[in-house]
Amino acid sequence: MPAMESWPANPGKSALDVPTVSGGNTAMERTYKVRLVKKEGQKLGLDVDYMAERSVLPILVISGGIAEQWNKQHPERKMNTGDSITEVNGIKGNVALMLEKCKADQTLELTVCKCLTYGHLVADLEKLMLVKGCGPIMIRLSWHDAGVFNGSDGCPNAAMRLAGGGEHAFGANAGLPQVAIPLLQAISDKYVPKLISHSDLWALAANVAIKVMGGPDIVTHFGRMDAQSPSDGATSAEGRLPDGDKDAQHLRDIFRPKGFSDKDIVALSGAHTVGACHADRSGFEGPWTADKLKFDNSYFQDLLNKNWTMETVKSGNKQYRSGKEMMLTTDMALVEDPKFKEYVMKYAANQTAFFDDYKEAWVKLQELGCGQLRDIL
Ligand code: HEM
Repeated sequence: MPAMESWPANPGKSALDVPTVSGGNTAMERTYKVRLVKKEGQKLGLDVDYMAERSVLPILVISGGIAEQWNKQHPERKMNTGDSITEVNGIKGNVALMLEKCKADQTLELTVCKCLTYGHLVADLEKLMLVKGCGPIMIRLSWHDAGVFNGSDGCPNAAMRLAGGGEHAFGANAGLPQVAIPLLQAISDKYVPKLISHSDLWALAANVAIKVMGGPDIVTHFGRMDAQSPSDGATSAEGRLPDGDKDAQHLRDIFRPKGFSDKDIVALSGAHTVGACHADRSGFEGPWTADKLKFDNSYFQDLLNKNWTMETVKSGNKQYRSGKEMMLTTDMALVEDPKFKEYVMKYAANQTAFFDDYKEAWVKLQELGCGQLRDIL
């Protein structure tokens, strides 16, 4: 398994240099020009996909005609299924107008970008997780983006990416704007907003991360709208995200208004089976389990079976330790509270039960405060 991401990621070398992106790393490498001249009695032979909120027209199929002729004559600029048209006769950004021009104009000057489908996006995310070992922080990014919902406002809208106060500056988010968001930069440069919003990308990245680390297959729904200014996000951290040094009551106080039951709280806490605490982010230190890149039920087994001793770390924070592993006070609350403990025992004994309950609570979490979302990108 690769090393965990570090902070700052790759000093001296930008996290963006990681060759994770399919079809070339720069927009230039991925872009090519096509000129199609329609002729009487000849079909265009170019079928595209259309979604109103996108800014590109993905190519669905080349079906003979002028498009295929172009491909034969220009092998170096061949249009393929999965490439996307980003500009038609000088029009970009407005997909309805671009489509209209494709139908009406006699000559089509197209700018086409390689590899912009859902499949390419998932492949790029999988590569990122494997190369950088950054699955855990992607889960935390999605959770903190959505977890600001307090029962009445707040939702996953990627407000954390916008400097100047708000979620970007929340103490609970320390490390996410500085590490997680730069890790995704090359992928967001390529796909946002052409194919996907930042907030949908964060949700999808977490679900790809969970799968890559051995966890369950989780469905991602799409259509989250991105915040355009910090004030579109939550402006106060009060009561939205949990503190690691508190008790069972605090967990219920934070999660109940979001609509989560005791079962959900325990299942969701099971995400601490991956990742670690970092002294320079939260002030807590160390991984929860022996393999911090494996998504399984070992967190629950460790909670029940290991001997945990309280310690005070450099920041002055109190946490629990057993060998190299740690637990937060909120993790220990899950075995100290009898109602929570029932679920810890269930998940420690049965990984499938954990995965099933996790999936249900997690999809709900990722969609807190969102309106109707779509099944497809
Ligand atoms: C139940 C209350 C929770 C508390 C008090 C809590 C607290 C924390 C803290 C203090 C960290 C360490 C951050 C750092 O130093 O880098 C952390 C990391 C993490 N949390 Fe939680 N968390 C909670 C719930 C959740 C939930 C609901 C999820 C997801 C379902 C989650 C997923 C993660 C992951 C994956 C990491 C590791 C991040 C990394 O390795 O960089 N946590 N959490």
